[in-house]
Amino acid sequence: MKNLLKGMNTHEYTPNGRGLLVHVYFSKKILPRSLLKYNCRDRHEKIIIKEEIQMQKTQINLNPHYQDCYFSDTDGQAEAHYIFIEGNDLPRRLNEEEVLHIGETGFGTGLNLLCLMNFFSTAVSKKISVKYSSLEKYPLSSERIKELLSPFEDSLGSNFALFLYYWKPFYNTLTPGWNQCAWDFPKVKVEFSLYVGDAGDWSQQKNPKQVDAWFLDGHSPEKNPDIWAPSVMQSVYEKTALGGTLASFTASGVVKRPLREAGFFIKRKKGFGTKRHMIQGVKT
Ligand SMILES: C[S@@+](CC[C@H](N)C(=O)[O-])C[C@H]1O[C@@H](n2cnc3c(N)ncnc32)[C@H](O)[C@@H]1O
Repeated sequence: MKNLLKGMNTHEYTPNGRGLLVHVYFSKKILPRSLLKYNCRDRHEKIIIKEEIQMQKTQINLNPHYQDCYFSDTDGQAEAHYIFIEGNDLPRRLNEEEVLHIGETGFGTGLNLLCLMNFFSTAVSKKISVKYSSLEKYPLSSERIKELLSPFEDSLGSNFALFLYYWKPFYNTLTPGWNQCAWDFPKVKVEFSLYVGDAGDWSQQKNPKQVDAWFLDGHSPEKNPDIWAPSVMQSVYEKTALGGTLASFTASGVVKRPLREAGFFIKRKKGFGTKRHMIQGVKT
């Protein structure tokens, strides 16, 4: 980053071979006078570029409808595995249940589904069948999903390419209400259903029925209380099979309370990364 000026500076940066256009506004606030002196230029560059990349990552990952991120900036894939797959005890249950029915509130980028496909790729020896029923008010195009999930492209591997291949025509034909399709992944046959619309309307629906494990992933309840409304949590309970479970990244009281009132047994568990707690629940 040469010829640094007060005001806007633009620099093309290529971390891990990915092009990023970094715009840095220099002011005393961002760059204190002490840092401008002497031979600190390398250090400025590192500090500023790090801040800018973090800012850009957050902005790229931001859902503009809720001003909240789709997944953790730290490691969304590890977070999804820890919270939803381990949180629902799926590694153990996989060997006990013939067909799993997964329910999700908030499909977003599909990262949770993809993490599940990757988990199955390594955890099962013969092909299995899964039902996956999700809900989304603002479905994303395959181009947008590709952009958002690009940091996980290598680790998600061939499942990611296959998902985008399936998603493109599916997305183009989405209509409000229920949309269904069948996807064939190397280790998993997925019967996929997506309700396009608001969680409030979804909660009035009979489907899905007999869900075995829920991924409750609808943005933070402070930024988006509607998807955690008591009526929606009650509906989640009614749509759950006996012995069915849930997991969520948030342990907020406004989420725990309605889930308990609906009938779930809820307990707290250590959260992911910097989060102190997450929750697990079971319908007994
Ligand atoms: C945290 S993101 C989900 C992340 C997602 N599971 C993933 O892997 O990318 C929450 C999603 O819920 C959706 N959402 C939030 N409130 C909703 C509502 N009231 N009805 C339907 N969808 C909603 C948002 O549009 C967003 O895509």
